[in-house]
Amino acid sequence: MTPVFDFDTVHFDEKKERLLILDQTRLPGKVCYISLKTQDQIIDAIATLKVRGAPAIGITAAFALCLGMKPFIGLSFDAFYTHFKEVGAQLAQARPTAVNLSWAIGRMEKTILRNRKAAIPEILEAMRSEACRIKEEDKIMCRNIGIHGLSLLKPGWGILTHCNAGHLAASWYGTALSPIYTGQEMGYHFRVFADETRPLLQGARLTAFELQYAGVDTTLICDNMASVVMEKGLVQAVLTGCDRVACNGDTANKIGTNTLAILARHYGIPFYICAPSSTIDADCKTGQNIVIEERSPEEITEKWYRKRMAPENIKVFNPAFDITHHSLITAFITEKGVVCPPFDFTPKENDKKS
Ligand code: MRU
Repeated sequence: MTPVFDFDTVHFDEKKERLLILDQTRLPGKVCYISLKTQDQIIDAIATLKVRGAPAIGITAAFALCLGMKPFIGLSFDAFYTHFKEVGAQLAQARPTAVNLSWAIGRMEKTILRNRKAAIPEILEAMRSEACRIKEEDKIMCRNIGIHGLSLLKPGWGILTHCNAGHLAASWYGTALSPIYTGQEMGYHFRVFADETRPLLQGARLTAFELQYAGVDTTLICDNMASVVMEKGLVQAVLTGCDRVACNGDTANKIGTNTLAILARHYGIPFYICAPSSTIDADCKTGQNIVIEERSPEEITEKWYRKRMAPENIKVFNPAFDITHHSLITAFITEKGVVCPPFDFTPKENDKKS
């Protein structure tokens, strides 16, 4: 059965010059869109996780720049470019860990510089085409990750996943959920365990929702139950997405991913990271160079509860991501194929030129 998603995560409405975003904070109760027209609205939507997931953030950023730069249509190239740098810097700060944000901004900058001799309306048109291309390429990357990932899995396997790295986080089938949906197309009948993913419950609210929507056999567990399903032999592989991969393979992903990798090693279960090339950071040597976003204490002390659950004034530490050491990763599944250790994502000379 081919999974069908009749909702899109990020949609650019050209006629009305607005970005429609599926509001992920309303899921699973409500599938509804918000209409965003300005740079500030989009930055707020990214910061408050109305749109989230590394690839979706990159796509959103690209369209944000198209809308954010429109007011500067009457300027000279130099003034336009100066404003672009300012707008891009503001956008990049919305969420610091997912590299797709700065990656998309970088692609838009290259588009502007490539067209520097053109009139500003033409540059804006080139930016719009580039943003559409980023979205289309993401679909293909997700599709290919699904095909390569499936080659590592067997029918009937139990698969554990963390956070949400599916349709809602990207285009098409997402990254970590793509091999699962591809298997669904081919009758693999996977049994998926979705970690609820404290503190923001991306697993409970989003992964459980979209897997169930697609008809995948899904069981929700609390994060601290992973060792139990592993110990019982119910999990044959762990698949997660990522927000930034360093050249040596150290990987930032949703907080709790590293714990899963350590558990998977203990129980002898393969641990795979699904990584589109937009998530590999050529400028980052190791995980130590990755900035980890810290979010507000209220996400832990009171969000989701009818009343606050922790004592007033308690100290809280709320990192949104952790780093999994490359030695714990069995392989990366990229759109180009499966990458096994030793990992080296340092760009080769030819890549640098293109
Ligand atoms: O804070 P979020 O919900 O944006 O975190 C998302 C994740 O950590 C995902 O696993 C990652 O972005 C991969 S999405 C294909």
